[in-house]
Amino acid sequence: MRMSSSVLTAVAWPYANGPRHIGHVSGFGVPSDVFSRYQRMIGSRVLMVSGTDEHGTPILVQADAEGIAPMDLADRYNRVIVDDLQGLGLSYDLFTRTTTRNHYAVVQELFRTLHKNGYLVPKTTTGAISPSTGRTLPDRFVEGTCPICGYDGARGDQCDNCGNQLDPADLINPRSKINGETPKFVESEHWFLDLPALADSLGDWLKGRTGWRPNVLRFSLNLIDDMRPRAMSRDIDWGIPIPLEGWQDRRDKKLYVWFDAVIGYLSASMEWAARTGDPEAWREWWTDPNAVSNYFMGKDNITFHSQIWPSELLGYRGEGANGGEPGPLGALNLPTEVVSSEFLTMSGSKFSTSRGTVIYVRDFLREFGPDALRYFISVAGPETQDTDFTWEEFVRRTNFELANEWGNLVNRSVSMAFKNFGAIPRPGTVTDADAELLRTAHAAFDTVGADLARSRFRSAASEAMRVVSAANKYISDTEPWKLAKDPAQADRLATVLHTSLQVVSDANALLTPFLPHSAQSVHELLGGSGVWAAQPEVREVDDLVSPSLPEGPVGAGLPAEGRSYPVLMGDYAAEQAAWRRTEVQPGTPLSKPAPLFRKLAPELGETGPEWAPVDK
Ligand code: MF3
Ligand code: ZN
Repeated sequence: MRMSSSVLTAVAWPYANGPRHIGHVSGFGVPSDVFSRYQRMIGSRVLMVSGTDEHGTPILVQADAEGIAPMDLADRYNRVIVDDLQGLGLSYDLFTRTTTRNHYAVVQELFRTLHKNGYLVPKTTTGAISPSTGRTLPDRFVEGTCPICGYDGARGDQCDNCGNQLDPADLINPRSKINGETPKFVESEHWFLDLPALADSLGDWLKGRTGWRPNVLRFSLNLIDDMRPRAMSRDIDWGIPIPLEGWQDRRDKKLYVWFDAVIGYLSASMEWAARTGDPEAWREWWTDPNAVSNYFMGKDNITFHSQIWPSELLGYRGEGANGGEPGPLGALNLPTEVVSSEFLTMSGSKFSTSRGTVIYVRDFLREFGPDALRYFISVAGPETQDTDFTWEEFVRRTNFELANEWGNLVNRSVSMAFKNFGAIPRPGTVTDADAELLRTAHAAFDTVGADLARSRFRSAASEAMRVVSAANKYISDTEPWKLAKDPAQADRLATVLHTSLQVVSDANALLTPFLPHSAQSVHELLGGSGVWAAQPEVREVDDLVSPSLPEGPVGAGLPAEGRSYPVLMGDYAAEQAAWRRTEVQPGTPLSKPAPLFRKLAPELGETGPEWAPVDK
């Protein structure tokens, strides 16, 4: 257990192209929040940042489909996504967006230093563009016949039939996946990240990583074998200007969306510092070599977090074959761990808006509330393999684990104590059975904590629930309802109920990272007041540029000055939640508890709700 360290929780930035579905939040949202809440509970200084990813083709394609400007689309979905994430209780210190002047200026600062250090080099390439819009068609948006196996649905980056890597120009009968037109192949000058010059430093860094999920590390190590220069600019009219003389005012060339998005972790940290009145505070997480940074994402993002982003950072530090010096922001930290999840599928197919297999977060929250979903994702989510979401499993987990096990333990312990004593009773003589249950609950802080520190969420949730089962068994064995009928057993009854309530309090702490909303309720049921688990708030803020930057944003098509937008922030330092036993105090008045979780109708497992019916 790391005490009092500085922990950056860097959470993948969702594209601002639609509301979030439960597949999205199972990969990046819930796991990163469980991790951050645990870290805060052990006393770490957590900085949890993210925002909406608003540049690039995904936004343009959706804006065209809706017939609006990309900035209007980004404005719309930034707000929608902020609400989705707030509803889930994701405790961001700052959830912002990539269309801030601050982000533009930070991205341009990284570009300039990488360029100066010799890691961004110009090259002329042949790329596909859409003849009707003049925009680049990213490789995966070009489709055609595979030149190797003849499969007709091959993509510009690879053929899913024979598995070969392709170039869009190799495809026979190429066509645009966006509108079916035949792409034009044109020569174009672009800025390339010199990955070959960074390969050795990147390899050394990766080989020194420990504690990663094995599949993520293996995948990342394989990437070192294929370090070709990669284009960091695009022929596109939506994105961050390239901050060089002769380039910055061009409307037809911008930085590649992934070059800018990963820098968001840094720009959001700097924005957070500027907003909280200590503009240099971000350095604690970025330039102190003892700080820890954990990055959370779905598996389709690994390349960008274990290859592209660390390479950008190494180049910024001047630590590649081309030499160089750290830029004005200093020697920035590389990721400590890249924590990647697999996909949540529904009936076998990846959750996807285009195929109609989609369960939106807001629909889910409206009907079932946040904690049932948070629990499901934590205990049964796609942590190390693709995992199918079924309503049947959701109903089973909610009814049998949350309601019957945890909800029932809380309910019967508190109501029996209330009915017989009106307060938390003072215990009498402690028996072996009492002591053993108390020991089990106490020991779980170490076992569950060790799992959480390593992002083993499924195991952590199951271990925490074992304490709940042990407490239920204890109650069945000690039969306090029988003790209550015999006045001679009043002392024994008090001891049993005191023990039960102590373990309810322990289990509540253990479950707080997963179930922060119900944890607040249990805290109050046990007679506590004030904030146990803090929640994020939506705040409306004005754009600002971090004073740590040597210069502001430059070029054509910058976001206007003085825009305001919603962010998520929160006062997490004020919460009482702590990762240890809090002794319950005899004499604390109790009241009659309301049920903690609503049980779901068993039919729901077969039919699904009407807004996401199970198709038969
Ligand atoms: N928007 C990307 C996606 O949804 C994730 C970007 S993560 C970032 O796949 F770090 F690059 F922002
Ligand atoms: Zn093929």
